[in-house]
Amino acid sequence: MLENTARYTVCGKGNTMIGEKMRKSLNGQVNAELYSAYLYLSMCAYFESADLAGFANWMRVQTQEEVAHAMKIYDYVNERGGRVVLEAIEKPVSEWDSPLAAFGAVFAHEQKVTGLINELVNLAIEEKDHAANIFLQWFVNEQVEEEASADAIVKKLKLVADAPGGLYMLDAELAQRLFTPPAAEGGQK
Ligand SMILES: [Fe+2]
Ligand SMILES: [Fe+2]
Repeated sequence: MLENTARYTVCGKGNTMIGEKMRKSLNGQVNAELYSAYLYLSMCAYFESADLAGFANWMRVQTQEEVAHAMKIYDYVNERGGRVVLEAIEKPVSEWDSPLAAFGAVFAHEQKVTGLINELVNLAIEEKDHAANIFLQWFVNEQVEEEASADAIVKKLKLVADAPGGLYMLDAELAQRLFTPPAAEGGQK
């Protein structure tokens, strides 16, 4: 196994098409996406324990999406001859005061991730790395969707706050969400 690792490392070094600064930043984004997955899985567990299976389903799908985001970046770094080095994933929060508080935290987290993606695009422009810039555009669009979907649920939770049965209806709606792998959406591979 060790021999194989060494062989691939040498091979990678000989074909690097990505700057070290960009590689390091994308490597950091792999961690950020995996942290997002971990955070949403933590929220999934919170909703499971509250017997809100639909909300838990939404979070489970969201977790899968975030892992797919991490893998998309992982694959890109490899494709450009870079080496991904996995770092520790921060422990996520495990309790929220209410479904609204949890979704408020989703929205705030997605805004933070949008900031990270924007910084990566800024770096790609600075480094004149056109390939990275084009690759990152998928994530720019994805973040628009991510923020909008979290915001829509926050608004619905605010609407149903005092209505009996509202939470139950929203739970049934969120139970419908299915995971669609990014490649199947017609995006770049
Ligand atoms: Fe993501
Ligand atoms: Fe996200």
